[in-house]
Amino acid sequence: MRTRARKRKLGQPAGTGDRPACSPFALAFALAFASVISMARIAVIPGDGIGQEVIREAVKVLRVAAEAGGLTFEFSEWDLGADRYLRTGVAITESELGMLGAEHDAILLGAMGDPRVPGNEHAREILLGLRFQLDLFINLRPVRLYEARFTPLRDVRPEDVDIVIFRENTEGPYVGMGGNFKAGTVDEVAIEEDISTGKGVERILRAAFDYARREGRRSVTLSDKANAMIHSGRLWRRLFAEVGAEFPDIERSAVYADALALDLVLRPSKYDVIVAPNLFGDILSDLAAALVGGLGLAPSASLHPGRPGLFEPVHGSAPDLVGTGRANPLAAILTAVLLLRHSGYTEMAQIIEDSVRESLRRDETTPDLGGRLTTSEVGDRVAERVRMAAAV
Ligand code: NAD
Ligand code: IPM
Ligand code: MN
Repeated sequence: MRTRARKRKLGQPAGTGDRPACSPFALAFALAFASVISMARIAVIPGDGIGQEVIREAVKVLRVAAEAGGLTFEFSEWDLGADRYLRTGVAITESELGMLGAEHDAILLGAMGDPRVPGNEHAREILLGLRFQLDLFINLRPVRLYEARFTPLRDVRPEDVDIVIFRENTEGPYVGMGGNFKAGTVDEVAIEEDISTGKGVERILRAAFDYARREGRRSVTLSDKANAMIHSGRLWRRLFAEVGAEFPDIERSAVYADALALDLVLRPSKYDVIVAPNLFGDILSDLAAALVGGLGLAPSASLHPGRPGLFEPVHGSAPDLVGTGRANPLAAILTAVLLLRHSGYTEMAQIIEDSVRESLRRDETTPDLGGRLTTSEVGDRVAERVRMAAAV
């Protein structure tokens, strides 16, 4: 699939210098990450379950944006997911992993996970395969309250929740080191190694502090469990102090992950940039999404500056929603916003984000946000708004 359209001023990828200052997505793609490319080659992996349904809407919006804004996007769709795995026995090949990284500027992925693959092995091979193979060490998850009525919390205003989570994305227990000894017996031993390397910890901390400084953010909070996990805790805390000392303009604090889970609910306005090891970042990002309307509004980007990014909503394949028309496509559409921002298309990214915001304001949403529209109707409304705004 291919979308080409004439170029005009709006369609030119913008340099990072002219990005709008108001949005967390603009903020999320600051100098460190944004690269300017003239034509975006986007690999699309719809994946499993509602991944297929929400990515269809995100691509719909991107196509309209390309058409109306004079952008050149080239899409290639990849059949990767449970169906292909069950059909062929192969989740993803080395050569596919290589091509996805080498021949694209960005990868847009829906979700991986299917009840027919209870061990989730295809999802790990594809999703973690891409994150690890491309060494996408930053998993950036912005959390913003668009409308006060979407939070389940009392007395919280939109300006109170504007958090960016920097989740380490290539280490921790996700590396798959370990094994089962005496498997299947009463004496079974399961070992899941939790890896932190000096290089891995330092680069994610530095990414978080760099970002905070560049975007005028006031603080970086480290979330760990240094009280129980003493070895990795010692490394994270030492490097947090060392890297943080290079950023005297940024406040820093370390909060245990359990205490942070509590405090995020009680006092979300205290938090700004949060940096966390892989597993805590995963859990905290679902919790934080719940503060602003749920997984239907939570986008994410896995990044390594200078490499193609992997853009995926925070949510999974939601087997309970498949085929019902109730899957909220806005997380996927906001993920496309991150993709555009990262690729330097800051103006168009802003147009799409504003269109989403307007849809939210008018209650043009799926039932999870109190609306009555279906997945594709929500996508249609956003696309129509983008068409009008981009054509002005
Ligand atoms: P999930 O994120 O799929 O769903 C959790 C809850 O949120 C469900 O009640 C679901 O209905 C709701 N939800 C999720 N996305 C929604 C959306 N767009 N609109 C409205 N409601 C939405 O998490 P789960 O149920 O734990 O996992 C299902 C499968 O997805 C598992 O196989 C899991 O491993 C996988 N998963 C994949 C990814 C990914 O590919 N990035 C992320 C998370 C989970
Ligand atoms: C996410 C998901 C994945 C993760 C799973 C599906 C392996 O929960 O992207 O948040 O834990 O990273
Ligand atoms: Mn998760």
